[in-house]
Amino acid sequence: LSQPKFQKELPRPAVLTPDKFGRYEVIISQFQQDLGLVINKKPVKTTVWGYNKSYPGPTIEATEGTPIQVRWVNNLPTGDVFQNHLFDIDPTLHWAGSYQNLSGIPTVTHLHGGHTEAASDGNPLAWYTPKFKETGKLFVKKTRDLYTYANDQEATTLWYHDHTMGITRLNVYAGLAGFYLLRNQHELDLNLPKGNYEIPLVIQDRSFDANGQLFYPSSPALLETPPTAPLPSAYTVLPEFFGEFILVNGKVWPYVEVEPTKYRLRLLNGSDSRFYELNLPGVTFKQIGSDGGFLPNPVELNKLIIGPGERLDVIVDFSGMEGKKLIMKNTARSPYPFGATANPQTSGQIMRFDVKASTTMPVTTIPMDLRNKPLPVLNASKTRQLVLFEGTDEYGRLKPQLGTAKEGPLGFMDKITENPELDAVEEWEIYNTTADAHPIHLHLVHFQVINTQKFNVKNSVFGVDQPVIELQGGTMPPAPENAGLKDTFIVYPGEVARVKALFDREGMYVWHCHILSHEDYDMMRPLYVGEIPL
Ligand code: C2O
Ligand code: CU
Repeated sequence: LSQPKFQKELPRPAVLTPDKFGRYEVIISQFQQDLGLVINKKPVKTTVWGYNKSYPGPTIEATEGTPIQVRWVNNLPTGDVFQNHLFDIDPTLHWAGSYQNLSGIPTVTHLHGGHTEAASDGNPLAWYTPKFKETGKLFVKKTRDLYTYANDQEATTLWYHDHTMGITRLNVYAGLAGFYLLRNQHELDLNLPKGNYEIPLVIQDRSFDANGQLFYPSSPALLETPPTAPLPSAYTVLPEFFGEFILVNGKVWPYVEVEPTKYRLRLLNGSDSRFYELNLPGVTFKQIGSDGGFLPNPVELNKLIIGPGERLDVIVDFSGMEGKKLIMKNTARSPYPFGATANPQTSGQIMRFDVKASTTMPVTTIPMDLRNKPLPVLNASKTRQLVLFEGTDEYGRLKPQLGTAKEGPLGFMDKITENPELDAVEEWEIYNTTADAHPIHLHLVHFQVINTQKFNVKNSVFGVDQPVIELQGGTMPPAPENAGLKDTFIVYPGEVARVKALFDREGMYVWHCHILSHEDYDMMRPLYVGEIPL
């Protein structure tokens, strides 16, 4: 299956409107959508899952200080889950169906980056099948599918996506992701490009079979050559997944017409494992915000690095580029940062910006001071030493895990070790002893990166021995684009990242690697704030 590029216009996800009670209703279902694929000169439709019949889902726009409620209705297929899931479920992983038979596909929605009460956080064990026939252990009866988002945090780019135990990678791959833009008065006062001049862009890599249907390989060996028929394999978890097609807002290699003026791009990496290093030849980016809000000052960059789950708020100025067609390129290696180079014909290209001859927009300037209040001053009362491990399971498959320096690798169902007191500020030292970079994500909080440092590790044998860590050289402050508020941070191999955060809501959350194939198996741990009930 090959695909002509830059033939289809970039879709802009619709903005969701609330009902007359101010509530949003979002129906999660299976349907067919034109992803821009052409086979034998004919457009084909692809079966996907989405929110309100849209992949990516409609954008929720909320305002700081005004809580909203969303009803996430599970209308996914009922019947045999193994038959009806679009992809092969791997029953050797701990997943929603590990303890009981399910009457339909389970889902649970998480607002990524949301400062959300635990009951509405979308814990992986809070899944539910259609009509709540079966529910996960942490499903809250009172909340059911009506989730409350407090919006008591700064204006920023959030996103919502499926988070079901053991099948998050498959449900998100099927299409379950969308934007959630939180706005406030300060953002308006900055006079940034808006309306048509503000474009959310979710970048996702995918693979397709010869019929243009989403293909998720049952074995890593099949990645480059999609088969014509689905494979009857159960053991589908991959060390990482990399697709050779790039979709932006649900279209393969789209183009967008822009005027020769400033645009605000809200970039989201919604891929399973692929990191991106993005550049637009001839254009410099001005990054103004990261995961949790505005940066202190704009940061000029020729290349944007974005790991799975991260968001970048960026100004691009197309003035002087009249009539040009600019291809956004990707040069990141996969796995990141030492794997194979991006293929310049496929994953090396993202989308095209076609600059028109003129604009009616007046010239505006981006303010130098982007924040109306300083970043929070946090003094940690406790420091934790956490470790990223990599081992193999009984089938010889890669098994990445999180754990502590004291106890070694721990699985998701092992006892809770990350248990900050309510309203405590903690510093987490996150040591990456593996060979690849991992985007580490904490629910509930936005953290500040204190520094990073290289280390050597002795004894880093998975499972048994305790790692003996020898720090190397001095500490490095975060790059200016990472010096704001973050909820997902790339921890490079052989490096420790020190971050600090205020844990100011009580209850059960999680922290995990946002490489979805890692999160599902088994690079995720509980995070319980406050006293754990017996
Ligand atoms: Cu974007 Cu726990 O997830
Ligand atoms: Cu990982």
